[in-house]
Amino acid sequence: MADWIERWKETSSAAERSIAAAGDLDALEKERVAWLGRSGKLNLLMKELPALPEDRRRAWGGPANQDKNRIVGLLEERKESFERAALEGALTKAEIDPTLPPPPPSRGRLHPLTLALDEMISILARLGFSWAEGPNAETEYYNFEALNIPAEHPARDTQDTFFLKTREGSPGLLMRTHTSPVQIRRMESARPPIRIIAPGRVFRHEAVDASHSAVFHQIEGLYVDKNVSMADLKGTLDTFLQCLFGSQTKTRFRPSNFPFTEPSAEVDISCILCGGSGCAACKRSGWMEILGCGLVHPNVFKAVDYNPELWSGFAFGLGVERIAMLKLGVTDIRMFYENDVRFLEQWG
Ligand code: DAH
Repeated sequence: MADWIERWKETSSAAERSIAAAGDLDALEKERVAWLGRSGKLNLLMKELPALPEDRRRAWGGPANQDKNRIVGLLEERKESFERAALEGALTKAEIDPTLPPPPPSRGRLHPLTLALDEMISILARLGFSWAEGPNAETEYYNFEALNIPAEHPARDTQDTFFLKTREGSPGLLMRTHTSPVQIRRMESARPPIRIIAPGRVFRHEAVDASHSAVFHQIEGLYVDKNVSMADLKGTLDTFLQCLFGSQTKTRFRPSNFPFTEPSAEVDISCILCGGSGCAACKRSGWMEILGCGLVHPNVFKAVDYNPELWSGFAFGLGVERIAMLKLGVTDIRMFYENDVRFLEQWG
């Protein structure tokens, strides 16, 4: 049997030749396994080294190890050059221009409804109203009964209300159809003076179209104190609407009817597009309906144990989407919920 060092030299130069001849990454990996893998030929030879007489082991061990490292280096070099070539090939094929500047990073921004809501809340906060909230799933008592909406009232129409399945014996729950129940909750837990707004989600069993959604947002307002009058209501809403739509905005209070207020009114603003001269957006009337309001009904006070002879108050409720649509010029309510970034990125 030839000397170990002779066999090592032969094997390592054979390794060198076949590594140089490997045509691609796969072939190269096979070479690595064949020479340096667990039972690769060079590795097996290395394992014989400890059995050699000490003088030879000393003389050959060092150079053989260097030689092995050289072969490892060759493998790496070939591997890198194959990888580089593959990348260059891919780049030319894909016709990428790596000198182009990167696209600008897309920044997050607030949803247009959030922006509209924030603006309204901040105006009302400056007018002295503080934040209140209540649950989305309400009882019939808070959503209807306590608000002077008796069982036969058309506002209770099962067509419009989502009722929840509850266990037998427990009080019936529904998805609140307006934010007005928060009035009751707050008056039950506090004494006047009360000045709150309750922004939040409301739910109606309604066919969805360009101006209707089954889930939308309202802001409820409630002010209770001694001697609160229609003039306080009018002053507050005039200021609010002029801050929101501009100081040139005119308001009009039309008599209306809500079970929880007496008297009740609907408030129109002068058309924000034509300024009141009449256009398609205001159906030639010069006015746009914006919210409902009134003085708190004595029956509502009775429901929360407030003496209606002593306390008086006003309430109002507005639709956030409707106002956001007017302010932003959005003509289809569904756009707020589809969250198409081409729509969303126009604001904020
Ligand atoms: N709750 C009413 C609705 O959902 C809106 C409303 C009208 C609220 C008049 C009020 C109010 O507080 O005074 O349509």
